Amino acid sequence: MTKQLQPHERVTLRDGTDVLIRPIEPADREMLLAGFEELSPDSRYRRFFSPLGTLDPAWLTYLTSVDHHDHEALIAESVPAGEPVGVARYIRVPEHPAAAEVAVTVVDSWQGKGAASALLALLSGRARAEGITRFHATCLSENRAVIELFRAFSKERSEKMEGSVVEIDMDLPAELADNNPLHAALTHAAAGALTFRHPTPSATAPGGRSEDP
Ligand SMILES: CC(C)(COP(=O)(O)OP(=O)(O)OC[C@H]1O[C@@H](n2cnc3c(N)ncnc32)[C@H](O)[C@@H]1OP(=O)(O)O)[C@@H](O)C(=O)NCCC(=O)NCCS
Repeated sequence: MTKQLQPHERVTLRDGTDVLIRPIEPADREMLLAGFEELSPDSRYRRFFSPLGTLDPAWLTYLTSVDHHDHEALIAESVPAGEPVGVARYIRVPEHPAAAEVAVTVVDSWQGKGAASALLALLSGRARAEGITRFHATCLSENRAVIELFRAFSKERSEKMEGSVVEIDMDLPAELADNNPLHAALTHAAAGALTFRHPTPSATAPGGRSEDP
């Protein structure tokens, strides 16, 4: 069953630029592909664990036609240009319905501005609304950026090294405390820059795959 889409949220990043974060839609195929094509080889490898060349049509369908319940993806696009900025995605674990696999990707030229923090914070809100209390992520152990991102996201977590990867299990924070680093990314939204709009077809950014969100 496809659920009603959530409102859009506009967030001001650390450098003052605005992004619109909203649930992904089937119309986002081209934006998702454009965002993927802007990813550096390093970012592609860190996201997909392989030097992936493209996202084929079947993948694009899977990644954009989500049910917003067991599978949710939020996409960030720049305002007003509508350029792809990033995607955060969860996919519920069928055997453990209160848990979901999570992945976040931000286009290289947008990294370091708080986009992933904002995406992850808003995705966790969507996840909690769908009955999910824990995220699990598989990360390359060399991927310091995402490991630090998840450490900032959840203090209640475990990290287990498995060869070249780290398996991270984390409780979703009930809400963002004022001293949580993720809170800064949403300060402007909390201060009134939060806008609600009806969904409109537009662009996309990178995402994940079925067994590897
Ligand atoms: C990991 C990734 C999503 C982070 O995106 P981002 O928008 O740059 O992250 P943010 O700016 O929101 O940073 C949030 C926190 O993450 C950590 N972080 C981000 N980049 C970092 C880096 N290069 N080195 C160390 N820590 C880093 C920091 O703790 C940072 O908080 P701070 O800025 O207050 O220090 C991005 O680097 C990316 O897309 N990488 C390629 C794909 C990938 O690895 N995906 C993860 C698959 S699970």
